Amino acid sequence: MNKIWTLGVLGLGEGRSIISAALNSRYFQLGNICDLNEELCRERCREFGFDKYTLRYEDMLEDPEIDVIGIYTPDQLHAKHIIMALEAGKHVICTKPLMISLDEANHLLEVQKRTGKTVFVGQSSRYFEPAKRQREDYEAGKHGELVTVEAHYMSDSRWFLEKAWSRKAGFSWMYNFMIHAVDLAAWYLPEIEEVYGVGVVSQNTKDYGLAVPDTMKFILKDKSGLCASVSGVYATPTLGSAVEQSISCTLRGTKGISRAGYPKLKYFTKFTPEPKNAILHSFDEMHGYYFRFENESHHAGEYQNYIEDFAVCMNEGRTPKPDLKEGIHTLAIMEAMEESMRTGNVVKVSDILKRRQIVLE
Ligand SMILES: NC(=O)c1ccc[n+]([C@@H]2O[C@H](COP(=O)([O-])OP(=O)(O)OC[C@H]3O[C@@H](n4cnc5c(N)ncnc54)[C@H](O)[C@@H]3O)[C@@H](O)[C@H]2O)c1
Repeated sequence: MNKIWTLGVLGLGEGRSIISAALNSRYFQLGNICDLNEELCRERCREFGFDKYTLRYEDMLEDPEIDVIGIYTPDQLHAKHIIMALEAGKHVICTKPLMISLDEANHLLEVQKRTGKTVFVGQSSRYFEPAKRQREDYEAGKHGELVTVEAHYMSDSRWFLEKAWSRKAGFSWMYNFMIHAVDLAAWYLPEIEEVYGVGVVSQNTKDYGLAVPDTMKFILKDKSGLCASVSGVYATPTLGSAVEQSISCTLRGTKGISRAGYPKLKYFTKFTPEPKNAILHSFDEMHGYYFRFENESHHAGEYQNYIEDFAVCMNEGRTPKPDLKEGIHTLAIMEAMEESMRTGNVVKVSDILKRRQIVLE
């Protein structure tokens, strides 16, 4: 089946990227766009030569032509907006973080099961060119047996605290930012069992009236005993992405090593037969595909890749990943990470799921 999916986009800040993706995709058409801010709706219509918008989410939910809702509202509203979409019989593509806690996890699992609709989490970092190539090499066995994963996301993102919703309850550097690094680690080690870590609230975050850790380092151990390190720094100066990629994922295996990063389109490998030096694969010619707007603030190419992955999976009857259960599992890992930071203990992910009475099998 080669269905063309009709998309409605909710939240037109970061939602700008999925609008661009849908308008450039042979698998999608844009059905409508929605934001509470009418001036922003008009701006997006002008920008993309689109002639329709609404200020009411309900208008998109009631529109029988719309198959999929893309959710790009503030983190605190995702659970509510996903549930509304599912109840209206729509499939969902929701940006990260899926939710700000596990509070709504069981409700969401129940609604998703009852409606039979798909929830796909837009974990954009999996879809950057170097990360895609790294995954292909991993699946082709070029690393041999995986030994360890190192993932980080480091950026001076104090600008983000200028948004009103980022200073409200429910925002945290871990759920909004570090989730990219946690998701990459969990993608390669899907059975993470135990976590341990330390977090620091720097004065720079306190200056914004927030008490959430902005600097965090963790060890994540999986069922077989392998471990990943995951770290994040968000409220202090950085050396810049020319020196150190903001997001980085290193895979070390018995037969080789690779490092993929973001935002520079560079991927390093050293596979058997081992070259003297690591080989650099550059994808600079794809810069315009990934970064379509001013600077490198939005990264629409990743969204293009993930909505098309979504469509191909749906058209072939496969579940696009990460799905709802995988998204909830990543949140359970992060809840364990939070507890470890708070208590200084090693925390088991299964204990979090048990306490929350969440069953993911
Ligand atoms: N790499 C990524 O995948 C990535 C990057 C940036 C942001 N994001 C995510 O995208 C989401 C939005 O972030 P942003 O930076 O665009 O924030 P933003 O504040 O710039 O935009 C959010 C928009 O949602 C609108 N909105 C709020 N409530 C609404 C409602 N009930 N109905 C319709 N519109 C509503 C607001 O008016 C605003 O325009 C966040 O969850 C963020 O984590 C993901």
